[in-house]
Amino acid sequence: MASNSRPVSATTPTPRAPSDRRPAGLTGRPRTIPHTAPRRRAASLQAHGLTKRYGRVTAVDGLSFHVRPGIVTGFLGPNGAGKSTTLRMILGLDRPTEGAATINGRRLAELRHPMQVVGSLLDARAVHPSRSAADHLLSIARTGDVPRGRVAELLEQVGLADAATRPAGDFSLGMKQRLGIATALVGDPDIVILDESLNGLDAEGIRWARTLMRELAAEGRTMLFSSHLMGEMELTADHLLVIDNGRLLADQPLPAFLSAHTTTQAHVRTPDRDALRAALSSAGLAASDSGPDGLDIPGATTDHVGHIAATAGVELAELSPRKGSLEDAFLRMTAAQPRDEE
Ligand SMILES: Nc1ncnc2c1ncn2[C@@H]1O[C@H](COP(=O)(O)OP(=O)(O)OP(=O)(O)O)[C@@H](O)[C@H]1O
Ligand SMILES: [Mg+2]
Repeated sequence: MASNSRPVSATTPTPRAPSDRRPAGLTGRPRTIPHTAPRRRAASLQAHGLTKRYGRVTAVDGLSFHVRPGIVTGFLGPNGAGKSTTLRMILGLDRPTEGAATINGRRLAELRHPMQVVGSLLDARAVHPSRSAADHLLSIARTGDVPRGRVAELLEQVGLADAATRPAGDFSLGMKQRLGIATALVGDPDIVILDESLNGLDAEGIRWARTLMRELAAEGRTMLFSSHLMGEMELTADHLLVIDNGRLLADQPLPAFLSAHTTTQAHVRTPDRDALRAALSSAGLAASDSGPDGLDIPGATTDHVGHIAATAGVELAELSPRKGSLEDAFLRMTAAQPRDEE
């Protein structure tokens, strides 16, 4: 079960600015209240040889990484890769078999005000079904000495103000995710950890969550989130941690991960495909058919293909670069990994 790929080294990416305005929320009215004061506390989250074994299953296998403040870090891995187990160990909900997770150099249990340091959403369904959204948040706020005014602010922020008195058990999954995100933010934490929190959100909700994550990071917080929605991960994350079989496969800025694991290709459409294919072949470029009148040329630049076409006198209807997606990169990387038998 030895892995043949080594983690790629981390470099600090440039944070992206939040690009979308926060949308209207469930109740349809724009939510414009600022949800926090500007951030000043930069918290760093580190895993040092984090390992978890359940009997013969090694769920997490010697993970070491550093999640930085001010950017959004995406946590990627196939089902059963060990993401949730890692997050549970970071949050002190599972005891590591070996290694440790630290926040600013200390374990979570040693922090005097953990709710102000870390907020998390691991399972949105874990709410008392007969408790209202407002009461749920209030009960969490009380445990951390958070003023009750924060509850109304959060309900407004996540678009649940009009559903505040309804029992959380009656909520849809998307509404529970919103409540879970509000719960994570009760203590105005420096670090926010969200596990699959986009599941069940509608299109507007996904855009809202993306914008929120980017805003939270732009405020200087440390944002770590896992998601199986590759398109969203690509739009939201600055940096990626990729794991499989509990091991770290990549720890690098998203653009670097994409360039390392995808190939760009030129796409061309032409009324004279055979002539262009022959000209490309003479120049040493292999092309495959794409649609009724197109060719894909892996590894070629549009400049090069345009030059070949012009030299051969072939008319072009379209010439464009095609980049690989995060999904392509992720599937290519994880498919190359040996599977554990157990
Ligand atoms: N409490 C447990 N007891 C035994 N095995 C466990 C336990 N929790 C997790 N595992 C095992 O550890 C491995 C990692 O599970 P984990 O839930 O961390 O994966 P994941 O990456 O979060 O997957 P998913 O994408 O499906 O959420 C799996 O093989 C799982 O069966
Ligand atoms: Mg999981």
